[in-house]
Amino acid sequence: MKNFASLPINKTKFLILGCGFSGSFFAKTIRKFGYTALTSSRSQKRDPHSFIFNSEKGILPDKKIFDGVTHILSCVPPDNNGTDPVLGSIRNKLEISSLKWVGYLSTTGVYGNTNGDWVSETDNPNPLQKRSYFRLNCEKEWIQSGLPVQIFRLPGIYGPGRSTFEAIRNQKIHVITKKDQVFSRIHVADITSAIIYLIQNKDYLKFHQIINIADDEPCSQIEVIEYCYSLLGLKMPKPILFEDAKSELSPIAQSFWMENRRVSNNLLCKKLGYELIYKNYKIGLKNCFINSQK
Ligand SMILES: NC(=O)c1ccc[n+]([C@@H]2O[C@H](COP(=O)([O-])OP(=O)(O)OC[C@H]3O[C@@H](n4cnc5c(N)ncnc54)[C@H](OP(=O)(O)O)[C@@H]3O)[C@@H](O)[C@H]2O)c1
Repeated sequence: MKNFASLPINKTKFLILGCGFSGSFFAKTIRKFGYTALTSSRSQKRDPHSFIFNSEKGILPDKKIFDGVTHILSCVPPDNNGTDPVLGSIRNKLEISSLKWVGYLSTTGVYGNTNGDWVSETDNPNPLQKRSYFRLNCEKEWIQSGLPVQIFRLPGIYGPGRSTFEAIRNQKIHVITKKDQVFSRIHVADITSAIIYLIQNKDYLKFHQIINIADDEPCSQIEVIEYCYSLLGLKMPKPILFEDAKSELSPIAQSFWMENRRVSNNLLCKKLGYELIYKNYKIGLKNCFINSQK
């Protein structure tokens, strides 16, 4: 990955709100380039660049955190009322004169079920689950905020430390198969790298407010599981049909199987020219596997 040649290090300051799995990866990457990245969590962290932000408990960051911020990435999910916790609690603090760009991590769940058909940013959202209605509402709030926001719709996120390998090792794996069912995925490094690419080339690329970040090859979950077992050198248990396994699954796990869609990355990868690092689950999981051996 190239440096952000166009962004001067001493005049660029990132704020990552909700520094969980994707936020931490993003922060770690841009810090490697020498940029300042302040990150929020709901509880105290040892990292001196981390601060507490917990909208549920009303713990809000001090105004001085926002001084000189140029780029904000929000990874915070909707609250229990379906509204955005960032906009609901610190919108006034985001009136920052130096602010150039805001990124919001959303989900491809807003597209709902397409029975396996491809969906792109030009398709109307058609949420099926309550959480996806909530998410669509948060997207709308961000767009209406008037901030210079770009929304990234993400499918299932995986990466080192969070993948099917961990599910197998922790015996949390459900070896389930469902006819014609596919899922889209994205490696966490591609979320970071695609966003950096878009920021880096902001002045040259046509602006799109909503962009999918997904890999090239949606596929069945059982293919992914089989591949992980083979890399681990273990025998995969016999798959159970979804209909037979359904009652054993949590409501949230069941709900994921109710949606079947292929998420197109044509806008990002063809029109805007981003080159995926991990084009499919095999390359991405190989990376997770190698990392877990270190
Ligand atoms: N996981 C997936 O497969 C997936 C797929 C598509 C989209 N998404 C969405 O994409 C975003 C990033 O995903 P992720 O898996 O990287 O998320 P994650 O690891 O769950 O991180 C979410 C972050 O939001 C913070 N947060 C949650 N509620 C908050 C509140 N009320 N006030 C302040 N901070 C709050 C959490 O704080 P703590 O660090 O203190 O926990 C955490 O840092 C999320 O919005 C997620 O819902 C996820």
